[in-house]
Amino acid sequence: MEPETGWLPEERLKAMEGPLLSWYEGHARILPWREQPEPYRVWVSEIMLQQTRVEAVKPYFHRFMSALPQISDLAQVEEDRLLKLWEGLGYYNRARNLKKAAQILVNEYQGQLPKSCEALLKLPGIGSYTAGAIASIAYDIPVPAVDGNVLRVISRVLGSREDISKQSVKRKMERLLSKVIPSNDASRYNQGLIEIGAVVCIPNGAPLCGDCPLAFLCAARREGLTGEIPVKAPKKERKKEKRTVFLIWNHGRIALRKRPDKGLLAGLYEFPNVEGWIEENDVGRCLEGKPSKIVALPQSKHIFSHVEWHMKAYEIFMPSYAGKAYLWADPEELKEKYSLPGAFKAYTELVR
Ligand code: ADE
Repeated sequence: MEPETGWLPEERLKAMEGPLLSWYEGHARILPWREQPEPYRVWVSEIMLQQTRVEAVKPYFHRFMSALPQISDLAQVEEDRLLKLWEGLGYYNRARNLKKAAQILVNEYQGQLPKSCEALLKLPGIGSYTAGAIASIAYDIPVPAVDGNVLRVISRVLGSREDISKQSVKRKMERLLSKVIPSNDASRYNQGLIEIGAVVCIPNGAPLCGDCPLAFLCAARREGLTGEIPVKAPKKERKKEKRTVFLIWNHGRIALRKRPDKGLLAGLYEFPNVEGWIEENDVGRCLEGKPSKIVALPQSKHIFSHVEWHMKAYEIFMPSYAGKAYLWADPEELKEKYSLPGAFKAYTELVR
């Protein structure tokens, strides 16, 4: 059946259900949180997937679930251990919010995730997408779960040129989907939409319309607009910051310090570093104590969501160190105990 060009958005979306569900039946990837969709597993996986690709998440997910198999384990985990489990995923506040929410669940919900979108939304770190994903995937409650994947699919199906980076557009899609989501198949329906967005109507590059069960309905495809839709306002340019990082050795141990509790990378450990680029001849002036050797290391760059760090670095050997500002870790502890943000990866790798 060729869909009517004059269809209302709701009618067009209603027509997705059958093809979407049968496609999902035959094409869903086998994923650990799909095989056993317990609420806790769905929650952790969705938080991890907000920042990282499915393939990269898998090993983190397995490690996290083995280390903290119950919500009560997460509620009690020591912060440093939690951050170590999260190391490499970035956005560490997401891990901290998981723990805060777990504590609330233990105190107020007998250690279970509540079976209602409204209650889920009140937990730290859970916004409308995650609440919808947990409610629908784990409990089959018919509520939408609109992430970037779903925004792309739906705006193409509808041929909508509205800017998907706007909250108001996301809310509108949520309202539309609420009206058409099947009352008895929300888990497969939402995962089907997410899956099409992840593997067919892909985020970068041309969509694979030949493989898409919704192609027959898709206004963007019919009008040749898949290159223009979705419309997404360009992000503000990131601020570029120069920094100089010091790998200071003292008798086989390396200097670390804890970052402040607020702001970028709050509460994480780091190699001492200063704003700006320090030239090799001036490094001594930044240190408390006399270095026996200073070696320039390769420069590196790290991109955060709003800032870029452009780093120079030096390896510094200090037979006697006068300051008290640092804690000293041997290379084994650096690997096993302290969680250094990915921003320092180029230098953490040099510490053996
Ligand atoms: N990306 C975000 N959530 C996902 C999910 N539940 N399955 C696959 N990819 C996803």
